[in-house]
Parts: sequence; C-alpha cells; structure tokens
Amino acid sequence: MLKQLTSLVCISLVVLNALAHNNGLALTPQMGWDTWNYYGCSISEQTILDAAQGFIKYDLPKYGYNYVVMDDCWQAPARNATTGAPIADPTKFPSGMKALADQIHSMGLKFGIYSSAGMYTCGGHFGSLGYETIDAQTYAEWGADYLKYDNCYNEGQAGTPKLSYDRYANMSFALNATGRPILYSMCNWGEDGPWNFAPTIANSWRISGDIYDNYNRFDERCPCLSMIDCKLAGYHCAMTRIIDFAAPVGQKAGTNHWNDLDMLEVGNGGMTYDEYVTHFSMWSILKSPLILGNNVLNMTNETLEIITNDAIIAVNQDSTGSAAERMWKVPVFSGGDLSSWSGSLVNNTFVIALLNTSPETQYVTVNFTDVFIDQGPSYQTGTYVIYDLWQKDSAGAWGKDIGTYTAAIPDVEIGMHQVRIWKAVPASTNSRRDLAEL
Ligand code: GAL
Repeated sequence: MLKQLTSLVCISLVVLNALAHNNGLALTPQMGWDTWNYYGCSISEQTILDAAQGFIKYDLPKYGYNYVVMDDCWQAPARNATTGAPIADPTKFPSGMKALADQIHSMGLKFGIYSSAGMYTCGGHFGSLGYETIDAQTYAEWGADYLKYDNCYNEGQAGTPKLSYDRYANMSFALNATGRPILYSMCNWGEDGPWNFAPTIANSWRISGDIYDNYNRFDERCPCLSMIDCKLAGYHCAMTRIIDFAAPVGQKAGTNHWNDLDMLEVGNGGMTYDEYVTHFSMWSILKSPLILGNNVLNMTNETLEIITNDAIIAVNQDSTGSAAERMWKVPVFSGGDLSSWSGSLVNNTFVIALLNTSPETQYVTVNFTDVFIDQGPSYQTGTYVIYDLWQKDSAGAWGKDIGTYTAAIPDVEIGMHQVRIWKAVPASTNSRRDLAEL
C-alpha cells in the first residue's frame, strides 16, 4: 500500500511539474511573424491586426506561417495593484488583449505574447520574475498561444546554467500548469548555453544577441566570434555572425526544442537579394524558427518570393528535425570564407549547401566524401539526382533537377555572398514521389 501511495505521489508530482516543452507544439520549427524587427516599441492593436491582414493577403498560412507575435512594449505602466495581474496599455490596445487574440484566432491564426524573466522587460516595462504563475494564467485567459520570454533585468539570476535553468523553468512549469498549449520561446541570447540546459524546458531558445539587418559588418556591440568560448551576447549581430554562432550547436536541437537564430530581417532593406536568400536558406537548414520581422502587409515581389520558397521551407520543416552541419570552412584571402554544409532529410534524402561569404566569385568542387562523411563509403561513391532549391522547374515549382552526379558536384561557380542549396536524392530511389516532396 505504501509503495502504491509513493508511486501515486510520484506520478502526481510529475504531472504537477510537467514542463512546457512537452506541450505537443513545435514538432518542427515554429513559423510566424513578430513585431520587433520592424516596429520596435511602436506597436498597437492596429499593427498586430495589420500584420494578421498581411498573412491573409499573401496567403502566408499556406506556407506554414501561423503565429502573430506581439513583442515588447504592449504593457500598461503598472500591473493591477490588487491582484498583480498584467495589464495591457489601454491606449495602444483599447479593445484589450482577449479581444485582440479572439480576432487573430478568427482569422485562423495564432497569437503570441512577450515578457521577460526579469524585473523589467528590455523596453523597461514590468517583467515576469516572481509573477510567473499569474502571468502565465493571464496569458492563457487572454488566449495566447506563444510566449517569447526575454532576459533583461534578471537580478543576477544568471551566470551559471543552473541559475538560468531555474529561472526559465519557473515559467515553463507555470505555462504548462495553465492547461493551454503555449509555445515557449526562450530568449536569453545564448547566455549559459541554453542548448545544453533548455531542451527539456522550452520549445526554442535564442542562441545569440539580437540580429542586425546587415550581412557581415563587425560591430563592437556584438563582440564575440563564437558563443562557445566568449560570453558577451551583445546585440547588433550581423547575419553571418549568427550563422557562425549556430554552426557548433545545431545537433543540440530537435523535435520540439530548437535553436532560435533570431527573427528574420528579409524585406527590411539592409541586405541584397543574394544576402537575404542566404539568410532565409541558412536559417532554414539550421532548423531555426522562421519568424518574419518585416512589414508583412506590404511586401515586394522579391521579399515574397524568398519567404515563400516552399522547397526551402520544406527543408526547415522536415520531420527528421536534424540541423545541417558545417563540414568544412576555408578562409578566403580577400575576406570571408567558403563553407560546405550537409544534413539528413526524410526518406534517405539530404540537403547540401555551399556558402560564400567572401567578396569574390568562387569555384569549388563539392566532394561526396565530405558531404557524406557520417554515412560512409557507399554514400560517398553514390549517384544522386541533385535539385537546386533556388531554381524553378519547368512547371514553375521551386527545385530544379540540375543533373545526376556521382562522387562529386564539380566546378560549382558561386558568386559573392551567394548560397547554393541542393537536395540530393539517391538516384536508385529518385521518383515522382521524391519530386513532389521538394
Ligand atoms: C531583446 C530581444 C529582442 C526584443 C527586445 C525587446 O532582448 O532580444 O528580440 O524582444 O529585447 O525589448
């Protein structure tokens, strides 16, 4: 009897303490939009509804985008003085959060909210440290489907993985206890190595300081070249810097727990077409959440074309959930480098990428001994049908068959700041079915 009682207590403790990462969400990296990169603090009910309207106008849910996330600066000056519950700024959000969430839901979309695991948010509004339970409950009552949870003003509760884990786990428990599935997107900028401590508590975690809409500019505010042996996350991190941060931690992620490379800048104007193609491609193959950060109510054809490349999105959303890994990286004399990446996809297919961050056109032979280093000799000498995911086939679909290759793809020309993303299908299994999956 005592034994039975003990196991009952254990089971209920497990249930009580269940964490938000195991909430059935983010089986593949989440996709959506967030206010911050385009609007900063200048948000209101209208900016959120405009974005939702943009989702409908451009048919974005068809491609997988479904979360409309309201970032910092939605809060009233203070919490409810009696209950401690959070309150939205009544001037910016006159209809209230519940009405806003209802409206987003009525458009077939999901609603995301933001707070910080600190006294204040980074914008100086009230944070959730010490208020996890009431905040999670209130977000659930409002109908939130997603929480982005920041790291500002954390009162020194950081500096070791244990301190960070405990602080972020509190919100994870609180979200789960609401009974509403709320995707938990941690944003502690890579501090204390969330790829090591967060996979069991969150659906995703940011790996670096804030992205800056620039290809490769070095900025003292983002001083590290790696997040493994350099502590200061900073901000104003150029896009290719974040790719370097992500390279060593890709395999820490997987189904329902992802490395977040930060919100996309595609469409915000700081990079060229080729650079934005690189940005979108690398975020996709590294299995980052794809959270748009541009004005989605008004997009150029170029921007729309990039963010709706469904062959690239399919790599991001591939059910194996395995991030591509960097196989090699060589510096180029004139600056930047050339690197080769590969990753596994479903049905024994693969993604291969070549990235040229140098200011010059490069010529390179992609050897299958490098691509298939993990798979071994039979793969390395194999024959593959190669699809270029940034070219369209004769029917106008992304993913053009560029030929059948054995052992290597020779003499690839790759221009300055370009990327090549290929899907490799073993020739023996290549079929219409594989084509349809592109
Ligand atoms: C930063 C965060 C940004 C944005 C901002 C809001 O810490 O990394 O993505 O949320 O705070 O103040």
